Amino acid sequence: MSLFWRIFSLNAAGLVVAAAMLLGPVTVSTPVLPAEALVVVVGLALLLAGNAVVLRLGLAPLRRLGRAMADADLLRPGAREVVAGPAEAAELISTYNSMLDRLQSERAAGAARALSAQERERHRIAAELHDEVGQTLTAVLLQLKRVADRAPEGLREEVGQAQEATRAGLDEIRRIARRLRPGVLEELGLVSALRSLATEFTAHGLTVRHQVAAELPPLTEEAELVLYRVAQEGLTNTARHSGADRAGIELTGLPHGVELVVRDNGKGIGGSPEGAGLRGMRERALLVGAELLVRPGPERGTEIRLRVPAGGGR
Ligand SMILES: Nc1ncnc2c1ncn2[C@@H]1O[C@H](COP(=O)(O)OP(=O)(O)OP(=O)(O)O)[C@@H](O)[C@H]1O
Ligand SMILES: [Mg+2]
Repeated sequence: MSLFWRIFSLNAAGLVVAAAMLLGPVTVSTPVLPAEALVVVVGLALLLAGNAVVLRLGLAPLRRLGRAMADADLLRPGAREVVAGPAEAAELISTYNSMLDRLQSERAAGAARALSAQERERHRIAAELHDEVGQTLTAVLLQLKRVADRAPEGLREEVGQAQEATRAGLDEIRRIARRLRPGVLEELGLVSALRSLATEFTAHGLTVRHQVAAELPPLTEEAELVLYRVAQEGLTNTARHSGADRAGIELTGLPHGVELVVRDNGKGIGGSPEGAGLRGMRERALLVGAELLVRPGPERGTEIRLRVPAGGGR
């Protein structure tokens, strides 16, 4: 029954009963007698109580909807509100639910476009770093070598230092380019890419263990990229924020997908607000219909768990 009819029929019933009583047995004299006043007050109290109950029950679904709207976060898809209550409320809830579905799929499409533009841009920058800056530095290195061969004794050491600095710059550029574009992902596949990620982050007091299942269900290219980028951001955060000395990445097969766990034994995220890194992880997870959990580790530190369904992604 609609909220309108609930309220209207209760009020109408109360008023009809009151009118019938006044026309029938109940009389109100002037001045009012105590017994008459009692009847009127009790009647009024019953009418008000009935109204309050009907309004409270009828408006409860709207209050629930209000809370759901306040808590809604498009990056954390949760269960939808149950469609229940009077007709108006039920209609509002189901409209809200379908609006949320639409917003979520539009957001996912927008994020997909943005992320693929970002990946393309990274490819371009990586290629330019490698091909342009890398080539120039290589040429400089060769030139320095020729200079070193002909340089007088007194200058050799300085030229040697310049060669060293150039070589270090070249290595740095190669490393940046590699990080920008997970070339290993394209060349060797996800498993080797994750192993090399673990090796890359094993340095400066941080040991990263990796455990990757040999048999994994087939994954789309997009899902592999999501797994790789989430592992990369997880380990970057570990290295940057956690102060951990041990971290691990695990990739295991599930009956209908795979699960990636990135864990460290550092100080934990605590109440730190999410930055672009964690939001990026959530957006990527949404793209392939994956579930992302960021929570404290079993003992201490931080644990990131990503469950990607097989065949996820468009
Ligand atoms: N493994 C971790 N251990 C401890 N704190 C963490 C860890 N990962 C994230 N944090 C905390 O959570 C915050 C948000 O992380 P997030 O990756 O979203 O942003 P960021 O790393 O600060 O910046 P960005 O990733 O955009 O460069 C961090 O600033 C940090 O305080
Ligand atoms: Mg980060």
